[in-house]
Amino acid sequence: MPKLDENAAEFRAAGHRMIDWVADYLEGVARYDVLSRLAPGETAARFAERPSELGKSYDALLAEFESSILPGITHWNHPAFFAYFSITGSQAGILGELLSAALNVNGMLWKTSPSVTELERLVLEWLRAELGLPAGLFGIINDTASINTFLGLAAAREALGLGIRADGMSGRELPQLRIYASEHAHSSVDKAAYALGFGARGITKIASDPSARMDVEALGNAVARDLADGVRPCAVVATLGTTSTASVDPLPAIVKIARDAGMWVHVDSAYAGPATIAPEFRWLWNGIEGADSIVVNPHKWLFTPIDCSVLYTSRPDMLRETFSLVPEYLKTSDGAEVNYMDYGLQLGRRFRALKLWMVLEHYGMEHLREVIRGQIRMAARLADELTRRGDVELLAPQLFSVVVFRLLVRNADGSIDEEGSERATLAVLETINESGRAFVSHTRLRGRYGIRVALGNGATEWSHVEAILDFVEEASGA
Ligand SMILES: Cc1ncc(COP(=O)(O)O)c(C=O)c1O
Repeated sequence: MPKLDENAAEFRAAGHRMIDWVADYLEGVARYDVLSRLAPGETAARFAERPSELGKSYDALLAEFESSILPGITHWNHPAFFAYFSITGSQAGILGELLSAALNVNGMLWKTSPSVTELERLVLEWLRAELGLPAGLFGIINDTASINTFLGLAAAREALGLGIRADGMSGRELPQLRIYASEHAHSSVDKAAYALGFGARGITKIASDPSARMDVEALGNAVARDLADGVRPCAVVATLGTTSTASVDPLPAIVKIARDAGMWVHVDSAYAGPATIAPEFRWLWNGIEGADSIVVNPHKWLFTPIDCSVLYTSRPDMLRETFSLVPEYLKTSDGAEVNYMDYGLQLGRRFRALKLWMVLEHYGMEHLREVIRGQIRMAARLADELTRRGDVELLAPQLFSVVVFRLLVRNADGSIDEEGSERATLAVLETINESGRAFVSHTRLRGRYGIRVALGNGATEWSHVEAILDFVEEASGA
């Protein structure tokens, strides 16, 4: 009978060459343009209409990867990738992915690979302690923060005690249910609300203060109005490290309002959470004892390759009540304390804890802390040097590793020319991104268009960040 893989020698030799390729790539990634320059459809047009009938050698595939796939890659591993949230496919993380792919285990049950469940529990307990989160939290790894927010809000919905799992949300009398989040909350909160049947009408966006933090008075008023109108508050999402500016919602006050109204508190700290491995940033968790669920993404700012997002909860019972469903063929009698399939939507689960374990153990916490501190110092220096220029305004305080700024153009009387400032800022952004030397994204705050620089790649040095200052300088001299 034909076997799929006949030739271990070919695999071994090609594997060595590919690891060499990866090592060269990581060492030389700064030589590439950060942003792919291809137009839509150009990558797909490089390929045949059908896959190979007789197969191709790994060497041929590596050559094709370089010639046809690499040009359409935007280099997220580039040290001057400052757009969205910058991430890192670290050496340790890549090797963890490799071993996980080799084992190809499915951790749906403890029994289907005890190490998958036990390493996940162990590593998440280590991480919880290193982040300074309260003891006793249950952790689970899923692919993304979006999915973890969905799971947290699904548990919040079940915790209302309205029997939604049993009886559904239609064909019976139910009050209008409501989720509250700041206007700066990530769009994944809206998506979760839509998918969970709250609908767009079931989510209230709360205004923020000038520092882009949720206005708790506005939250209190919205909840009071809803209660008076017979609406049932379900959950509030506090973002600790927002997408636009890394602003931090005032959690203690939010928790108080939530408790008084019987709401679940979901904390989205997907980006900023990892910074708290350094104790000086643990102020982020002020009020965290009141959270029911918390999202932290090692794939954002803990040097772990995408995807790896952690959901911590003080109420794993509610995740189980929402999702546990054990068909006969999956019943076990091994007495395992945790079968992760009971705590979420998916049955099959990748061995993601392996790469996180590799990252934590290979680099060591001291080095990880120092790299994060260095990135925050570089962001602070960038903010400082930008503010010292008379023609730049920071649109938000620099927090963690995010800097948001715009160029200022003035009218003859010294007042700010809003349209001119936007045009000048957009022009600098386009120049930066077209240069290939760096990639930044943008945001709009109180109507003002700003360039957003987010540091997070483990290879970033000051020279990469300094390029942003050069572009601003060039624009001001132009
Ligand atoms: C604050 C925040 N939450 C959630 C997300 C979504 O993350 P993911 O891509 O892991 O779903 C993002 C993405 O940038 C984010 O900034």
